[in-house]
Amino acid sequence: MTEFPPPSGPDDIPEPAPQAAPRSAPGAAPAGALGPNALEAAAPRPPLTPDALGDDPVAAALAWVAEAAEQSGMRYPNAVTLATVDAEGRPDARIVLLKGGDERGFLFFTNYRSAKARVLEASPNAALVFYWDAMGRQVRVRGRTERLPADESDAYFESRPRGSRVGAWASEQSMPIGDRDALEARYHEVEAEFADTEVPRPAHWGGYLLRPVDVEFWSEGTWRLHDRIRFRRSTPGDDWITERLQP
Ligand SMILES: Cc1cc2nc3c(=O)[nH]c(=O)nc-3n(C[C@H](O)[C@H](O)[C@H](O)COP(=O)(O)O)c2cc1C
Repeated sequence: MTEFPPPSGPDDIPEPAPQAAPRSAPGAAPAGALGPNALEAAAPRPPLTPDALGDDPVAAALAWVAEAAEQSGMRYPNAVTLATVDAEGRPDARIVLLKGGDERGFLFFTNYRSAKARVLEASPNAALVFYWDAMGRQVRVRGRTERLPADESDAYFESRPRGSRVGAWASEQSMPIGDRDALEARYHEVEAEFADTEVPRPAHWGGYLLRPVDVEFWSEGTWRLHDRIRFRRSTPGDDWITERLQP
């Protein structure tokens, strides 16, 4: 399992990190106007080819996350939009942090009682979308989700800072709560409960694996001639078919 970056996230990092310098946008409109945008006249980039991506799209996507971590200046280059659809066909989307991946697929962690988890349990098809502005890159993924085996969730949970582990017990994610004080009081209660012991992983908190059947790499080109390389297969375990799509 490739894991990155060191276990951290909005819940682990109390202080804000430096922001990336704004990227120059040659075609940018004046402030407040929605005019021509940077994509119209983007700086030339080397064209993206299937060969450059290799034959494993999960590894290629992880490599793009790693490059964004080095070059984009983003605080969360592993932030990804997770889109779900419930049993009535109603879509929803939210950001989660990609915590790794391997030959099985992409990995993220959440509360198994959250709104997203309830939807995924009933309707496991999901999509991921990454976008790295500074890199001019997007990755789209579709596939089925399943819970990560408990021992792997345990291993990840144990790697988290104690405060985050307490927080996993304290928050009934996606449920209403009266006010911020009530949330903090709940945190302190949990902290007191575990004062003399390790904080174990709650059974309702853990990972999901998304096993991809579609992974599309988009790279910004000049004059809207963007590169799109799609990997697809009917089911996980099949060989990937690679094709170039028109932008
Ligand atoms: C940068 C960022 C990273 C986040 N990472 C996670 C995460 O890894 N897991 C998670 O459950 N929620 C994460 N969240 C919060 C989710 O976006 C969302 O608010 C929460 O999971 C509840 O969603 P739900 O009600 O659809 O279940 C993150 C939010 C942001 C903005």
